[in-house]
Amino acid sequence: PTTLRAGAEADSRYFGVAVGQQDLGNGTASNVAGSQFDMVTPQNEMKWDTVEPNNGQFNFSPGDAIVNFATSHNERVRGHNLVWHSQLPGWMSSLSGSQAKSAMEAHITGEVSHFKGKIYAWDVVNEPFNDDGSFRQDVFYNAFGGGAQYIGDAIRTAHAADPAAKLYINDYNIEGQGAKSDAMYNLAKTLVAQGVPLGGIGFESHFIVGQVPSSLQANMQRFAALGLDVAITELDDRMPTPASSGNLQQQATDDANIVKACLAIAQCPGITQWNISDADSWIPGTFPGYGAATLFDNNYQPKSAFNSVMTAL
Ligand code: XIL
Repeated sequence: PTTLRAGAEADSRYFGVAVGQQDLGNGTASNVAGSQFDMVTPQNEMKWDTVEPNNGQFNFSPGDAIVNFATSHNERVRGHNLVWHSQLPGWMSSLSGSQAKSAMEAHITGEVSHFKGKIYAWDVVNEPFNDDGSFRQDVFYNAFGGGAQYIGDAIRTAHAADPAAKLYINDYNIEGQGAKSDAMYNLAKTLVAQGVPLGGIGFESHFIVGQVPSSLQANMQRFAALGLDVAITELDDRMPTPASSGNLQQQATDDANIVKACLAIAQCPGITQWNISDADSWIPGTFPGYGAATLFDNNYQPKSAFNSVMTAL
């Protein structure tokens, strides 16, 4: 195969990419997104501040544009995301606890119903944990009186609106074993025991070159043993820029190891890279001094890491 999607499909997996509206107007970017990948995650277009800028008033056109792009290139869509402490509209902050509860349920029902049948998997709850493994005490946690409560309610509400979609909890720094991943594991176990229709755990995988946790595969495997899917949802592997050839080689090793970990687990449906290329990656804007984190360079040309991933697939 010559594309990530063909390589992944030969292993019955997908290779996805985060795409934003700005990419749709860029011929080079959309060419790569439309040919190399077979799953799309909207970068920002399905987040709460975009979808429901005023209470009860929905704006689906940015998300629809991403879905149309994916569909026209025979690519599926991971919905991202429904409930998250970040990128919330201003009106959320003035709600009482009971108002926040109903707003959360109405938001989930409205958004999932609109996209019903078009979404392979939803990140229902995004980033619920602090790095020490405690729950983020955000508006949802506070409204429901606990992490497992609002998360269980969110997943049940999404399931009622689209019973066919796989429903995920997604987070970062849970890729290797540690306090945060233990907390996610305990949450997942609790929800499964309660009969909550949780379908999978998303491991964001925003890595630093040379620091992919060696426990990645074993850690993902313990979640799979609960009967859950385990997906790499936002892969990038950043390094100081300008990139050294040594770091680009290490990145090729890192990314191949991540692919191998997924392929070794039957319940790992696929891998999604966050952004299309080094040119449109979110990394330089968020981690100043870092970049070169994707499989394609600033000119959308395949890097060493692309070749090592193709060999691993
Ligand atoms: C990022 C987007 O890429 C940026 O454009 C935006 O400004 C902030 O959010 N974890 C997630 C994603 O779940 O939604 C984030 O996306 C990256 C970290």
